[in-house]
Amino acid sequence: MTYPAVRPRRLRRTAALRRLSAQNRLAPADLVLPMFVREGIEAPRPVASMPGVVQHTRDSLRKAAHEAMEAGVGGLILFGIPAAKDARGSGADRPDGVVQVALRDLAADLGDATVLMSDLCLDEYTDHGHCGVLTPAGEVDNDATLARYAEVAVAQAAAGSAVVAPSGMMDGQVAAIRTALDTGGHPDLPILAYSAKYASAFYGPFREAADCAPQFGDRAGYQQNPANADEALREVRLDIAEGADAVMVKPALAYLDVLRRVADAVDVPVAAYQVSGEYAMVEAAAERGWIDRERVIDEMLLSIRRAGAGIVLTYWAVEAARRLARG
Ligand code: PBG
Repeated sequence: MTYPAVRPRRLRRTAALRRLSAQNRLAPADLVLPMFVREGIEAPRPVASMPGVVQHTRDSLRKAAHEAMEAGVGGLILFGIPAAKDARGSGADRPDGVVQVALRDLAADLGDATVLMSDLCLDEYTDHGHCGVLTPAGEVDNDATLARYAEVAVAQAAAGSAVVAPSGMMDGQVAAIRTALDTGGHPDLPILAYSAKYASAFYGPFREAADCAPQFGDRAGYQQNPANADEALREVRLDIAEGADAVMVKPALAYLDVLRRVADAVDVPVAAYQVSGEYAMVEAAAERGWIDRERVIDEMLLSIRRAGAGIVLTYWAVEAARRLARG
C-alpha cells in the first residue's frame, strides 16, 4: 500500500482550514448597490422581473440608501426614471431632474459614509430609449451625444455625485466628461467608465426597471459585440488614456474571461456589473426551488472576484454584505 504524499485535501478538512487557505474573498466594502429612483410616484414600485428590486420614491430611496450604508456597502449607484421623456433626454441634466434631486438628498444624508455614484447616460431620459441623441436619419449621433454627456456630468457633480459612471459607450465619452468636469469646477471628481460594455440580452429586466427599452433598433451600433474580447482591451486602454480613474466590464457572468484579461492588463481599479438578467435568472430558479439561492449568489459573486474584479456592482449588495459581515 502506497500513500499519496501530496494531498490537496489536507487544507480542505475543516471550515477553519478552508477559510485560512481561501485565495479570494469579498468584503461588504467591495460591493456597490444599483438603485432606481422614479419621479412622480407615491409608493415604491416593484420591478416584476427583478423580485426584491423596486423603483424608489424620493423618500424610500433615502431609507434604502441608509440601510445599504449601515450594511457597509462600498457604494451606491443611482439610476433615474423621469416623469417625462423627450428626444434629447432633458431630464438627465435639469437641476430639478430626478437624479439630481436624489443626489442632493443622499449627499446630505450620507455625506462620505459611502460612495455615492451616478450612472451617466441618456437612455432613461430619451423618448426613443437610445443612449444618445439621434441624427435626422435616426442613428445615434456620437459627437452630439458627447455634448449632452458633458452637461449631464456637470449637473450630477453639482448635485453631489462622488463618482460619475458613463455607460453609453460613445467614442470619446470619458475625455468629453473629463474636460467638462475640469472646466466646470470638478477636477477631483473620479470617472468610473463602463469601458467594456457588451450589447447583451442580460439587460432585459433592467429595461423594465429603468423603463428604457429602445423604441426601435437595438444598441449593437454602440455597445460591444459579444464575439469580441480583444476589443475590450482596446476600449479599456482608450478610456484610461482619456482619464478614466476606474474601468468596468459588463455584464459579469458571461464575460468573466474578459474581466480576467482586463484585470491583468491595467493598473486602475476594475469593476464588474452583475446585471439584471443575472439577478433575474437566479431569483426565478430559486423561486421554483431549483437551486440553493444563497449559495448560488455567493458563488457567483466570488467568481467575479476570482476573475479579477475589485469592485462588484450587484443588486444583492445589501444582502451579500450582511452575509459577509457575519462571516
Ligand atoms: C444604460 C444602462 C443599462 C444598464 C446599466 N446602464 C442598460 C442598457 O445598456 O441597455 C443595464 C444594467 C442591468 O441590466 O442591470 N444606461
